[in-house]
Amino acid sequence: MRKIKIILVSVLILVLALLTFACTQKPSGEIVDDEENDLVVVGFSQPGAESAWRVALTDSVKDSFTEARGYRLIYKDGKSKQDNQIRDIRTFIQQGVDYIVLSPIVETGWDTVLDEAKAAGIPVIICDRNVVVSNESLYTAFVGSDFIAEGETAISNLENILLDEETGEVKSANIVHIQGTIGSSAQIGRSKALENALEKHDNWNVVYEDCGEFTKAKAREIMASALQEVGADGIDVVYCENDEEAFGAIAAMNEAGVKYGEEGIKVISFDAMNTALVLCLDGQISVEVECNPLQGPYIYNLISRLNRGGAVPKITYVKEQYFTKDNLSNEIIEKRKF
Ligand code: AHR
Repeated sequence: MRKIKIILVSVLILVLALLTFACTQKPSGEIVDDEENDLVVVGFSQPGAESAWRVALTDSVKDSFTEARGYRLIYKDGKSKQDNQIRDIRTFIQQGVDYIVLSPIVETGWDTVLDEAKAAGIPVIICDRNVVVSNESLYTAFVGSDFIAEGETAISNLENILLDEETGEVKSANIVHIQGTIGSSAQIGRSKALENALEKHDNWNVVYEDCGEFTKAKAREIMASALQEVGADGIDVVYCENDEEAFGAIAAMNEAGVKYGEEGIKVISFDAMNTALVLCLDGQISVEVECNPLQGPYIYNLISRLNRGGAVPKITYVKEQYFTKDNLSNEIIEKRKF
């Protein structure tokens, strides 16, 4: 009898020890319970770190969801793969986070995982780029850019640059188009604006087009190939879908000894990071359309309203502007936070 008692007590101690261990360890995938600290847990899935812009978005979200404000942020980098982002969202669901913030690498392919989040009762905020889903109730709200509007702003500035003041006509243009990640809202909207402009201006042609994945290295290769195949004399404009690509195109033109900016090929770019605005003020980049990465405060406002039981708008576009040499100054660049 005494032996049985000893065995039972030992088993009980072992079970208690295991339970204590399970409650204190939090490797990835295990339940996150911050109720003790009263922290609201937010899982943030980013597609990658392909650009300085994206790093600025990550920092903005991290700065907004701090423990001092009552939040715990779990950040995941999808390493430029949708499958990784889907896996990260599933991990957030298993962990039982309170909210999920998703910056989707591409627009489609999210229905199943968003359905899983909905079934688990976790509100999802889509940020930066949007998703296209069968049922809009699969996410709570979107905060980000109006990429078509960004593209249209770039095009109307290009029309101004190409305006022949004597005839009032828009001059012809041979355009190199360096696209962003195919299927992302940023690529779709900015490319769509260019496609619409090509329909409107039959003297505008795309002479070379390829996907630069929003990176400097890819864009540099693409511009070098365009210069080789088309020749610098056959190119008037390079339409880069973000600043990294503009830096890559400029590097290729420098290497080939090709003139650009006021004296040569016009560079159109998006993001308006301060490193690019320096080149814009110098006349090397002709148009910079801002893509605002400071989205953390917008997302914070939405989540804190939801947390108080309030309603939130389905779509919030962040404030954005454009820059040319004419409306830029050193003071503007110095004051910029990204
Ligand atoms: O979705 C926003 C775009 O993604 C930015 O223009 C770009 O720099 C980033 O990688």
